Amino acid sequence: MSTEQVTARPATWDSDQGEADMEKGHEPSWRALIEHIDERDLCGKSVLDYGCNRGGFLRLLYDLRSFERGVGVDIAVQSLDDAERRKGDIPVTYKHVDELTAPDDAFDLAFSHEVIYLLPDLEAHARYIKQRLKESGIYYIAIGEYAENPLWERWKETVSSFSPVSPVTHSLQDIALAFRNEGFDVSVRRMVCDGFLPYDPTDTKYLQNPMELIKFMTEYMILFRMEKNRVEKKPGA
Ligand SMILES: C[S@@+](CC[C@H](N)C(=O)[O-])C[C@H]1O[C@@H](n2cnc3c(N)ncnc32)[C@H](O)[C@@H]1O
Repeated sequence: MSTEQVTARPATWDSDQGEADMEKGHEPSWRALIEHIDERDLCGKSVLDYGCNRGGFLRLLYDLRSFERGVGVDIAVQSLDDAERRKGDIPVTYKHVDELTAPDDAFDLAFSHEVIYLLPDLEAHARYIKQRLKESGIYYIAIGEYAENPLWERWKETVSSFSPVSPVTHSLQDIALAFRNEGFDVSVRRMVCDGFLPYDPTDTKYLQNPMELIKFMTEYMILFRMEKNRVEKKPGA
């Protein structure tokens, strides 16, 4: 067990329909995330998906860039069961966040996609990830829900209406500082999800018009690359 336990163990994060819709809605963004990472060949690599829900991201990643071993963690136990049931024969396991021991289980790469806004203590999260990455391991954080996104305050109310854990407003600077304070080297870019984006005008849970979708997927999605073991730069170097 880790020393920083997250006690929540809801069955699911959203309703059955909500999680199915999320999986469909997130696929273009997962593809963009995989396109944007520096590491092209994941052969021999171990990967962690933090906040994996039903496991769709790791299934897609394995399909596009097969890796040696993957673990998905979440708090939602029924969603984890779904992930386990649907994994097929890919080398992945799913478990509750508290059950991922450190440092025995160390990863080359870690990912989280649309999870950071559900974590109240970013420095504790940075420590959790740091303890589970190999030396010079990389953590990619894809996030569209943060203080500077003008859609966020409205979405926060939506999320609050169903999520078993309260959403939190972090700024991009909060995220960068939390990881810098834990010794990570921080870099950041826009995550552009180009091409045709599926849009259902009858589903207004998050989006009220196509421009919101376009702006979200091409302007507001941000990708952080957090590198463990930051090398201190000498003054003047
Ligand atoms: C918006 S969903 C994103 C799911 C998935 N990453 C995706 O891209 O579809 C957020 C996920 O984070 C999980 N989550 C919430 N709090 C968490 C925590 N403290 N630790 C791990 N996962 C958490 C939720 O249960 C949910 O599955």
